[in-house]
Amino acid sequence: MSFAATVLTLYPEMFPGPLGISLAGKALANGLWSLDVRNIRDSATDRHRSVDDTPAGGGPGMVLRADVLGRAIDEASPPEDARPRLLMSPRGRPLTQALVRDLAAGPGATVICGRFEGVDQRVIDRRGLIEVSIGDYVLSGGELAAMVLIDAVVRLIPGVMGKESSGTEESFSDGLLEYPHYTRPAEWEGEAIPDVLVSGDHGRVARWRREQSLALTRERRPDLAAALPAERPKARGDR
Ligand code: ADE
Repeated sequence: MSFAATVLTLYPEMFPGPLGISLAGKALANGLWSLDVRNIRDSATDRHRSVDDTPAGGGPGMVLRADVLGRAIDEASPPEDARPRLLMSPRGRPLTQALVRDLAAGPGATVICGRFEGVDQRVIDRRGLIEVSIGDYVLSGGELAAMVLIDAVVRLIPGVMGKESSGTEESFSDGLLEYPHYTRPAEWEGEAIPDVLVSGDHGRVARWRREQSLALTRERRPDLAAALPAERPKARGDR
C-alpha cells in the first residue's frame, strides 16, 4: 500500500465523493492508496453524542471538544503510527506542491476535518496536529480541503498517472506556471496555432515555452517569480 489516508470528520457521507471518481477513484479501486473514513461523533460518550461546546471566554460559535476528538484520534492513529496528523484549518501552513510531494513520499496521513469555530487547542498541542490551509478563504468545514489535499497527493503516487501526464507536476516543481497549450484544429475562429509550435524545432519550442512560462509567472504570480533562482548568465554562442 502506497499511501494510507484516514479521515476524521463529522460528515463521513461526504467521502469518497470526488476521490472515488476518475484518476483518484481508479487508483483507490486498484489498491494504490487506501481511504479509511471515520465519524468523530462515534467517539462521543454522552447521551446526546455531543461533539462541541461553547467557547471558554465567550464569543460566537462552537468549539470541537478535546476529549471527543482526542479519543477519535487515538483510535484512528495510535501513538506508534508514523503517519503525520493533519488538521485542515484556514489558519494552517499553506498547502504547497512541496508539502504534497513530502506527503506522497511517506506512508500516509490522518486528516482531521475541522468544523464549527475551531478545535480545542489542547488536542492540537497534545496530539501534534499540523494545521494545513488550502488557501486564504474560509470553507464551511475541512472536508473539501481534505479532498483537495488527498487528490493532490494521490496523483503523485507511482503508478497512479500514466507517464504521459506525470510531467504536469513539473509546472510547479520548477516554480513556474504552465505555458499555453494548443491542439488541432490548426486554425479556429481565425486564430492559428503559434508558428513555433508547428516548426518541428524542439529546441525553439522548449525555449518558447520557457519564455511563456516566465512571462505568465511574472505577470500573475510575482511572489513565485521573486523566489526563482537567478538566471544563468548566457554563455557566448548560447541562444
Ligand atoms: N477549513 C475551512 N477553511 C479552510 C481552508 N481554507 N483550508 C483548510 N481547511 C479549511
